[in-house]
Amino acid sequence: MRFDLILFGGTGDLVWRKLMPALFQAFRHGSLPTDGRIVGVARDDLDDEQYRALIKSRFDEVDLAKRPSEEEFSRFAARLTYLRMDLSNATDYTHLAAKLAEHQADTVVMYLATAPSLFTIFCEHIGAAGLNGPQVRVVLEKPLGHNLASNRAINESVRKVFDEKQIFRIDHYLGKPSVQNLFAMRFGNALFEPLWRRENIANIQITIAEELGIEKRGAFYDSTGALRDMVQNHALQLLCAIGMEPPINAHADAIRDEKLKVLRSLKPWTTESLRQHVVRGQYSAGTINGAQVAGYASEPGVGQGSQTETFVALRTEIANWRWAGVPFYIRTGKRMARSSAFIEVNFRPTPHAIFKTPLGSANRLVIHLQPKDGLELHLLAQGQQNRGQTNAETSATVQSLSPVQLDLDFDKRFGSQRVGAYERLLLDVIDGRLNLFVRSDEQEAAWRWVEPIMESWKHDEGPRLYAAGTWGPGAASAMIARDGFCWPEEC
Ligand code: BG6
Repeated sequence: MRFDLILFGGTGDLVWRKLMPALFQAFRHGSLPTDGRIVGVARDDLDDEQYRALIKSRFDEVDLAKRPSEEEFSRFAARLTYLRMDLSNATDYTHLAAKLAEHQADTVVMYLATAPSLFTIFCEHIGAAGLNGPQVRVVLEKPLGHNLASNRAINESVRKVFDEKQIFRIDHYLGKPSVQNLFAMRFGNALFEPLWRRENIANIQITIAEELGIEKRGAFYDSTGALRDMVQNHALQLLCAIGMEPPINAHADAIRDEKLKVLRSLKPWTTESLRQHVVRGQYSAGTINGAQVAGYASEPGVGQGSQTETFVALRTEIANWRWAGVPFYIRTGKRMARSSAFIEVNFRPTPHAIFKTPLGSANRLVIHLQPKDGLELHLLAQGQQNRGQTNAETSATVQSLSPVQLDLDFDKRFGSQRVGAYERLLLDVIDGRLNLFVRSDEQEAAWRWVEPIMESWKHDEGPRLYAAGTWGPGAASAMIARDGFCWPEEC
């Protein structure tokens, strides 16, 4: 296949940290079609060789399974080329047209790894220059807007020039192998489906915790916050994957239709539930892995007296026949005790106890997303040494059970050659597969649901502080405890 992958924002953080390493891995795995160019586009005054050298120097800073040799890098670099261009300048699009004409690719992927404020102007100019033919696919990085209205405005301007099937809205969580396995577990096996409902499940908890702070993204993060950065997209997509009905087939729209139904079924917020079921926090100075770290308020780029949240915990429900009444908890935060993302499915306890079981114990399925990628099924079993005690009243022998777990580690099982999130998604765009991309109506439904939270924060007392290196404000524990449940590290 003859393709051009145009990376707008070609010298930016996302390109050198995520996209280039992913493309390099695809190249190394032999899955990048051979007749394809990768075109970096930015305003910097560089030629092809300088661009290649820049990418090479940045490769030293990223996490690649194995460093490329000189020879391997130069074979990859032969695919790289550079175009200097200002996306807000209409005449620069003639340079883009000339660059595209050089190669006459049958698939052109335009990846907007730029500030979202450029999306609308980009679409206008691309349309005016006639560069939106059917061979073109456009990839939009999050955040797509900062509320429902701005999201709609972006989607409208993109749809004026591109057909929905040309638009790839990326949420890199959907590309994670662990999320693929969540779909595989649910829809490739019959085992869990009968259990996957309110009658058997007490609650579901989604945690995305990061030790990292806001890095060098202070200004961006301060106007975004954890709700927009993580909940509106990644966490809600995970909630959809766990809560959706089985799709009728594996086609993009069948999957997206089911996710949309979940988003539309999320219980609407009320003044009371906003007060009781949403906790926002902001980290103060603390310790991560034994090192002292600064509080959010003193990070570079953060406004004085900032009320931006770096932590959110919330409780919601999916109001449908399968899930009514089952709490779904989401929590995500920066500078947390440990970097770890997982989903816990907590089953209901046995209806009647004939064994002595540890208090409150019940079966639990933990879907580990990262750093571990695997499944753990927690059960109760009888240890061999256990001979039981006689109950004085009934003379029955009462035996106690111990927690045990079935543990499946996908990295060990399938090896470390597994395809990373961005690699998988980039190859999907090149191949034109939309399954793992988000449709505009899903995005709108997600914004519609988070907006009342943002609105309520305009009138509350601000985020609660939590020390860096902890699991967030105590109010998040109190929230879940009111339902009689606990976060895993507290149970
Ligand atoms: C990004 C957020 O979308 O996801 C970042 O903007 C966050 O703030 C990142 O750190 C987390 O992704 P991952 O794959 O490292 O869990």
